Amino acid sequence: MKYKIAVCRFVLPVLLLLLIAISPSFAQQKMNQFITGLMAKMTVQEKIGQLNLVVGGEATTGSVVSTGVEEKIKQGKVGGIFSVSTPQRIRRIQELAVQQSRLKIPIIFGMDVIHGYRTIFPIPLGMAASWDMQRIEESARIAAQEATADGLNWTFSPMVDISRDPRWGRISEGSGEDPFLGSAIAAAMVKGYQGKDLSADNTLLACVKHFALYGAAEAGRDYHSVDMSRIKMFNEYLPPYKAAIDAGVGSVMSSFNDVDGIPASGNKWLLTDVLRKQWGFKGLVVSDYTSVNEMIDHGLGDLKAVSALSLKAGLDMDMVGEGFLTTLEASLKEGKVTMAEIDRACRLVLEAKYKLGLFDDPFRYCNDVRAQKEIFSEAHRKIARATAARSFVLLKNENVLPLARKGSIALVGPLADAKENMVGTWSVSADVSKATSLLAGLKEVAGTGVQVRYAKGANVSEDAALEARTSVFGKPWQRDSRHPDTLIAEAVRLAKESDVVVAAMGELAEFTGESSSRTDLNLPQSQKKLVDALLATGKPVVMVLFTGRPLTITEEDQKLPAILNVWFGGSEAGYAISDVLFGDVNPSGKLPATFPRNVGQIPIYHSYKNTGRPLVGDEFQKFRSNYLDVSNTPLYPFGYGLSYTKFEYSPVKLSKTSLKGAEKLMASVTVTNSGKYAGEEVVQMYLRDIVATNTRPLKELKGFKKLLLQPGESKEVSFEITTNLLKFYDHNLRYDWEPGEFTVFIGTNSRDVSSANFTWNR
Ligand code: BGC
Repeated sequence: MKYKIAVCRFVLPVLLLLLIAISPSFAQQKMNQFITGLMAKMTVQEKIGQLNLVVGGEATTGSVVSTGVEEKIKQGKVGGIFSVSTPQRIRRIQELAVQQSRLKIPIIFGMDVIHGYRTIFPIPLGMAASWDMQRIEESARIAAQEATADGLNWTFSPMVDISRDPRWGRISEGSGEDPFLGSAIAAAMVKGYQGKDLSADNTLLACVKHFALYGAAEAGRDYHSVDMSRIKMFNEYLPPYKAAIDAGVGSVMSSFNDVDGIPASGNKWLLTDVLRKQWGFKGLVVSDYTSVNEMIDHGLGDLKAVSALSLKAGLDMDMVGEGFLTTLEASLKEGKVTMAEIDRACRLVLEAKYKLGLFDDPFRYCNDVRAQKEIFSEAHRKIARATAARSFVLLKNENVLPLARKGSIALVGPLADAKENMVGTWSVSADVSKATSLLAGLKEVAGTGVQVRYAKGANVSEDAALEARTSVFGKPWQRDSRHPDTLIAEAVRLAKESDVVVAAMGELAEFTGESSSRTDLNLPQSQKKLVDALLATGKPVVMVLFTGRPLTITEEDQKLPAILNVWFGGSEAGYAISDVLFGDVNPSGKLPATFPRNVGQIPIYHSYKNTGRPLVGDEFQKFRSNYLDVSNTPLYPFGYGLSYTKFEYSPVKLSKTSLKGAEKLMASVTVTNSGKYAGEEVVQMYLRDIVATNTRPLKELKGFKKLLLQPGESKEVSFEITTNLLKFYDHNLRYDWEPGEFTVFIGTNSRDVSSANFTWNR
């Protein structure tokens, strides 16, 4: 009897709970049933049609463009379209699909909504410099709001490729060099885009890209080969993709590069073994722009062969190249792919559409009223302005900034009156005519008490051909045809008549981004000459540096009293920069990527290893790991950024120095604002595993907190450390921590830290 009661009271409920846990949820079952029913009606060709993603023609990033799109839609040969927008256009295309194709399957509409839709936020590298996950999530939320109001439901973002090579133009599109920061950002972006309910009419399906390792292209040349040990992959490059998966991202884009000898789009180990089996990803995998076809040039066979290889590897949707559309049926007949593989891919595409609510209402994202009200709204622009101001990094300041609201300012430089340049790369949906230039922003923010006058001073580069190559997205750059000496003379005259000079310099927006790799990261000669001429006037010169990558501004750092790095701050950048210049906002950005002294130091990053012959001190030593001609240290370290106020750190305090097993360690510092301004500070925590079975980095970022401190205010900042933070992949790819001695470092950047040691045993 007692036994029976025990079974009823304990065993049965536990079994029931187990059953519920392993059986697909009711909603999932409903979706499965619906899709199974639909697929039962589909021909092979219709199933393959769902795997075809075409480009609508508004923007392309490859030399191939989709053709005959309308006809293909009617024939059920298109699963998705990207780069078409507005409710009217999208409604018209959707009507073709749901009224004129046999099975009336709606189309999914994608776009590269990368750092904002019409309200443009800073480029992703700039957003990363804010170290502010709430603002980053909010920027994605706003982008989703605007993009869905304009008819879209899928974005090819977040881009989470770790890059330690500023020669690579696409470093601007990611979060920089660090996997811990990159993972936090990846999760925040996915949350922002997808919200809690993908079927809501203001959430977007996110797509984490480019899987994988795209940021490690050899020599920083775009699309180049990648060769990396698995241990490095798992510890340093894969975590942000994994973080996006863990945050529930609905789709993944495979990258152009090869991984261990096989291009990502056809790499089964990557797309199936790691992504689906190891990480449990359940969504759809789309190729990059013609990346399936490009495997022909990689040397993996003809279109039929590479298409079959991709499908079998775990790729579900083929972007633009139509290898799937044109060859998979024949491959099926020849037994080179199976029906189960086509079904898998088709199901995943249909599931994405189902989750977006497109089967309930294919026009749910086509709302003209929303488009009118929600895009580029005052409220969104205000947030973008405040966010941009918090992404800027003050690199140097010898008592010049903030500027006084009096007297006269000479605003000079090729980027001062350049609203088309403010939004930065990958802002295809931006309306650059609505962006604010620094000149316009500065005049407005300065108010009537300050005289702001402008002279161009120089072209961006003396190399006109280089400038011309940056107009791919239809933003032509007008060169000034006047003689360089005339330009400089005008700027110098203005500088002499003014109290202070603000020099807007750096890169054109399209100096970074796709296919925009560079080998020379110095300020161009034309701008260097202008700097020298301005300095010769004896007036204080503040450089406002526009850039999409770390630049080698070693000389400028020596010469100029103040440098504010403003990345490409988006549509509101002109205001945001002025807010910071006048001290209405105190800069708080910190570098998400190390700035090298020269290109020869690349790759340079904070989490390097010791080597067997480490350099001790900073002087050259024979037979030690260093250079004859330049120091090992960077120009500005990872995590670096100044403020108008001063933060003082107490030494690191530990709750214990010897721990065991599942215990927790608290490491704290007290941070005091000892300056005159209220300010935000990003407190950073790094760890080192002193003795391990594998070589380990000297420092790895493992925590950060951003806090606001009023003048005179102190706050204690604590980081909880558990053995989870000590884990790493060893040479057998076993993920665990090893007992022993560790160091914790806490400080204002990766260089200026204080530390304490502790031991941890099993
Ligand atoms: C880029 C992707 C982008 C795609 C679609 C490709 O060239 O690598 O990042 O999402 O084009 O525009």
